[in-house]
Amino acid sequence: MKKKKNSGDSINADHLKRLTQVGAALSTEKDIDRLLEKILTEARIITLADGGTLYLMSYNEKVLRFALVQNASLGLSTGSTGKRVAWQPIKLTGDDDLPNHANVSAHVAITGEAVNIADVYDTHGFNFEGTRSFDQETGYRSQSMLVVPMRNHANEIIGVLQLLNAIDPDTGRVIPFSGEAQELVCSLASQAAVALTNNRLIAELEHLLDAFIQTIAIAIDEKSPYTGGHVRRVADLTMTIAEKINATSDGYYAAICFSDDEMRELRMAAWLHDIGKITTPEHVVDKSTKLEKVYDRIGDIKTRFELLKREYQLAMNEARQNKAGFSPEEVVKDIQSLDEEYQFLVRINNGSEFTADEMIDRIKQIAQRKWSNNTQTLPLLTEDEIYNLSIRRGTLNDEERNIINNHAAVTYRMLNKLPFPRKLRKIAEYAAAHHEKLDGSGYPLGLKGDQLPLQSRVIALADIFEALTATDRPYKKDKTLSEALQILKQMVDDHHIDRDLFELFMREKVYEEYAYRELALHQMDM
Ligand SMILES: [Fe+2]
Ligand SMILES: [Fe+2]
Repeated sequence: MKKKKNSGDSINADHLKRLTQVGAALSTEKDIDRLLEKILTEARIITLADGGTLYLMSYNEKVLRFALVQNASLGLSTGSTGKRVAWQPIKLTGDDDLPNHANVSAHVAITGEAVNIADVYDTHGFNFEGTRSFDQETGYRSQSMLVVPMRNHANEIIGVLQLLNAIDPDTGRVIPFSGEAQELVCSLASQAAVALTNNRLIAELEHLLDAFIQTIAIAIDEKSPYTGGHVRRVADLTMTIAEKINATSDGYYAAICFSDDEMRELRMAAWLHDIGKITTPEHVVDKSTKLEKVYDRIGDIKTRFELLKREYQLAMNEARQNKAGFSPEEVVKDIQSLDEEYQFLVRINNGSEFTADEMIDRIKQIAQRKWSNNTQTLPLLTEDEIYNLSIRRGTLNDEERNIINNHAAVTYRMLNKLPFPRKLRKIAEYAAAHHEKLDGSGYPLGLKGDQLPLQSRVIALADIFEALTATDRPYKKDKTLSEALQILKQMVDDHHIDRDLFELFMREKVYEEYAYRELALHQMDM
């Protein structure tokens, strides 16, 4: 026998089917705003409600916040993605600190019991002043109301669903919410609460992971006073380039579009690219002169020169007194050569010019001078000092260069140990390859050509451009914008960095946005 339609019969097999589908849909929705919208919309559909409000419990569990408000008759839909509801939250306790049972939504949040009211204008026990003034403002007539708690798997109430004015589909009249509708929406509300809790948990964990990664990056940058902000700038630039690739609709990158997960993976790889530097000794990272170890040993050499000069002066004084064989000009010349030799070593120590063979010969020659401390006579320069002063280019010797270069391998070893979720599983690979070059001359693995994923190429370009233009490295002069781009171009011609990427960098003027943000005025020469 076919049942007569009434408010209870408004719920049918379709609704049950829909409820099952909604449950499945809720569990797969990743975006919290879209999830909230889905919950309220579906709750209205299965209860045939004209309007509805979704409240979320605040973090401190003191108030219910309006998350979404929908009303079909009024064409109202606020709080959906991007549009926040500005209404005052509902306090769960009154001014007397007692539970706020006067407000129906607060009451449901406190007790966890659903409330079903046939007509809010004809009921006792709750204060519906807010509803009445809403009606007055809008000309609406609130009547039937169903308020249910959103209780998650941990038995916590994380929100409240309030449904307004059940509509009889045949007559279009407002009817009370049926017991069946109440049951269905309670079931939907708890599924929604579980989905929402899971979603929040994932979002919170992702947020925590991002924050943790950034903290590590800051710690690495802080190790050296000269590289502050390097990782952050590289990560920013990497993402700008990736966004340009996504936005490109023609040419080489037309078919490439990084998904949200891939963008996240790339962002994290960029933030972590130098994590291996955590093991690099500071005196190597910051080695600003050839003789610097924990301190710059040029100071030691200066002391030795001063001692030698004093010896000459003493000899001169003695000779003056004896008058025999005294040649002050010669002594003055000797002292002058000492000064010149010391100045030569100071210059060489800076490592700013290429050290040619004849310079190395001169270092060795100077080294042969003797000086004495109180106990013994020693060569003016130690073997280690000669070795370091003879560095041809820059300030790092081979062993130190290897220690520095090792950071990329350490990056791989560290990141490869971390159990990143599947969608982020390539972070170690992308991050560790940022010093590889297309021609295979990079490190740590000497990868070349197709072995280098696009993501690594992007980080590499960002890393080089940042290093060239950084204004805070004491051991090398910052480059102007045009000089940096010229060097990048040369690196493209030398098959070190990706040509298509460099062309995109130039065509889309990625450098320009970066320069305005990060470079000093004197670097802006184009
Ligand atoms: Fe690096
Ligand atoms: Fe780097």
